[in-house]
Amino acid sequence: MRWPAQLSFLLPTLQLPMSTVTPPRVYAPSTKPFALKEGHDVLSPKDMLELPRAGGAVANPAGDLAFVPVNEYSFDERKMNSTIYITSLDPAGLPATFPVLNGGDAFWLTDRTLAHVVTESNGQAIYAISLTYTAEPASVAPSSPVFIGHLPPSPASNFKYKSGVLVFSAYTWADGDLFDTPKLDKERSKEGSGTSARVYESGYPRHWDTWKTPGKESQLFSVSLTSSGAEGEEKWSLSDAYVAPLNGTKHYAPVEPFGGTDDFDISATHIVYTAKDPKLPYAWHTRQNVYIVPIFGGEAPRELTTGKQGATHSPVFSNDGKKVAWTEMAEDGYEADLSRVIVYDLEKDVRFGLADKWGTSPSAILFSPDDASLFALAGDQARVKLYSIPLPATPSSDSKLNVAPVPLIEDHTVTGVQPLVDGRVLFSQSSLTHPPEVYLRDKTGAKITQVTNLSTKKLTGKELCPGHEFRFKGAEGKTIQGWVNLPPGFKKGDKAAWPMAFLIHGGPQGAWEDSWSTRWNPNVFAQQGYVTVTVNPTGSTTFGQELTDAIAQDWGGKPFVDLQAGYKAVLKLYPEIDPERTVAAGASWGGYAINWIAGHPEFDFKFKALVNHDGVFDTRANGFVTDELFFFDHEFGGPPWKSAETVEKYNPARFVQNWSIPMLIFHGEKDFRLPVTEGIGAFHSNQRMGVPTRLVVFPEENHWVLDPGNNLKWHTEIFEWFAKWLD
Ligand SMILES: *[C@@H]1O[C@H](CO)[C@@H](O)[C@H](O)[C@H]1NC(C)=O
Ligand SMILES: *[C@@H]1O[C@H](CO)[C@@H](O)[C@H](O)[C@H]1NC(C)=O
Ligand SMILES: *[C@@H]1O[C@H](CO)[C@@H](O)[C@H](O)[C@H]1NC(C)=O
Ligand SMILES: *[C@@H]1O[C@H](CO)[C@@H](O)[C@H](O)[C@H]1NC(C)=O
Repeated sequence: MRWPAQLSFLLPTLQLPMSTVTPPRVYAPSTKPFALKEGHDVLSPKDMLELPRAGGAVANPAGDLAFVPVNEYSFDERKMNSTIYITSLDPAGLPATFPVLNGGDAFWLTDRTLAHVVTESNGQAIYAISLTYTAEPASVAPSSPVFIGHLPPSPASNFKYKSGVLVFSAYTWADGDLFDTPKLDKERSKEGSGTSARVYESGYPRHWDTWKTPGKESQLFSVSLTSSGAEGEEKWSLSDAYVAPLNGTKHYAPVEPFGGTDDFDISATHIVYTAKDPKLPYAWHTRQNVYIVPIFGGEAPRELTTGKQGATHSPVFSNDGKKVAWTEMAEDGYEADLSRVIVYDLEKDVRFGLADKWGTSPSAILFSPDDASLFALAGDQARVKLYSIPLPATPSSDSKLNVAPVPLIEDHTVTGVQPLVDGRVLFSQSSLTHPPEVYLRDKTGAKITQVTNLSTKKLTGKELCPGHEFRFKGAEGKTIQGWVNLPPGFKKGDKAAWPMAFLIHGGPQGAWEDSWSTRWNPNVFAQQGYVTVTVNPTGSTTFGQELTDAIAQDWGGKPFVDLQAGYKAVLKLYPEIDPERTVAAGASWGGYAINWIAGHPEFDFKFKALVNHDGVFDTRANGFVTDELFFFDHEFGGPPWKSAETVEKYNPARFVQNWSIPMLIFHGEKDFRLPVTEGIGAFHSNQRMGVPTRLVVFPEENHWVLDPGNNLKWHTEIFEWFAKWLD
């Protein structure tokens, strides 16, 4: 292989002098039979996967009832059971939950009527379910569902309903409408056209886990859904006049791959939404503009952003429909830039930053019911906290204000917030010891009431560790934070008794937080008998933007000073860890870290085995083939031909000569962020270096392992691999 001229500086390091060839290392894997630890006192991977998974609660406008969608997997039935619970929000009646429905989408039509969208053999149908609510003792009785109507034959999702108008999203052809989609799908399929070729001239050929269908995009649609008749006896009617307010604009919402109902909001008259800037190539720009359009179209959308910003998220209307707020990053191309709250006063035509000097990045915002303040969720110190930001009078011209956010809930990880009219706040919260449950904060914050109690019983008798924080000096003297999750039975003073699992997070702009996960759950590792260590090195979020920013163009630098210092600090703090029995695992950037550690024996980690899940192997290749090119450009300082020096300096593929630690490699074949060839490259390298290795490919998985059966296989492979090299 010829190297481009600008890479000739690498050549001397590419040949090993003959005289330094060392004899092959001898490996002695354990031959003991392996079984996962299970039992009433252990949270096994299977137990964890079978815990109920609650979505955010959605309250009715009156704030006295809420529905909570819950998914629950059963390995016996090999089935994900989806249920929608209706719960009373009356403190006197708590807790009182009533499972009423089997899956599907739901939204409130009135305080006592829930719309339920179900997929039937002939398409999606909407039903109305009336609820009879008695406060004392709290009970909710649902009526039998009453059919309202069928939706057009293009699968609809992301429903929002207000003042007689239903807004949702669906994938349609640019030249078609909701009713044409199946006909056009057929015409353009192999059956209709004689070829299954896909042809691209711009955009993403594939994104996240999906090959794009050229010409077919996500759009928003509006339709009347109105009632007649007395309260409690409404007759509902769904119009068949569907309007596509974004038709012809080249604005596509929600934004793929993760956009949903938080990418748009509706008032009685308008839709506000975020969409990728149609003038910029999507793959190497993050700019998303915020637009407002009449709910039934008829006017071109009006842009509310300056057009000079980066990504925007979470556009929301005030309750009176007179203001819009969203979160905004400054830099186009940087997906982890500091996020600011922007408010747009539609009457005064003034745009202002609200908390410009705030050091953390809000991830979701909402107006309080009286529009006097905003609620914001933001990551801070490895937690996700709820804040309130008082909303001052609109300034006379565009400006940046510095209102100080007030923390309302600071523990664990808060999600799914909804302020209620009476001043209470409905929210979900998870932690290292508990999956999300729904709670209510009273008006003053003096009292927090638990609304759902889905998992407590199933977790009883399992000794889950709340996570012990430690801090140490990392690169450039900065304080770095980490967590230790101790295994059940851990006793202070047990000298060198416990193996350690050192987990490295992805992103790299992410963090190990006090939250629950079904994929990388520190307590699931601890429950298998490992002191589990999770460090938040340079590049991590929630510890200030400076630490997040500092990893750019330094992938193999400061983060590894931090990780080495963290490894040493934890061995010192916990002499109970056996320093000869440590292993490491990571996914995505964490997988990059595993490949980088494999190539740098001088780092002085003593890992006996490594696990690399969908990790970067060849940085250079990645800069060409990943889906979101902006990410690579930002991290390395330009496309691969412009950033070649940094790309090769920190390329794990260049240090394969040093690999010697047994490595288990996972890769999802639908991972288009880091394609499967990254895993294959690492596998081949281990094989040719004579290093024991194992490649586990999941054909249906993307960057994550989502299917519970595959997830159980993933956990089993990891713990068996660890045992093989530690026992
Ligand atoms: C599935 O949901 C139904 C209705 O809520 C419930 O009766 C059933 O026990 C659930 N099954 C499992 C395996 O969770
Ligand atoms: C979208 O616009 C095109 C061109 O003006 C028009 O032919 C088509 O009917 C419109 N589709 C919808 C669903 O409004
Ligand atoms: C939740 O359930 C557990 C076990 O069933 C029970 O001990 C606990 O009191 C319940 N908590 C609440 C807030 O209902
Ligand atoms: C690792 O590999 C590089 C490149 O082959 C080599 O220059 C370096 O000396 C090796 N380091 C160790 C500690 O073996």
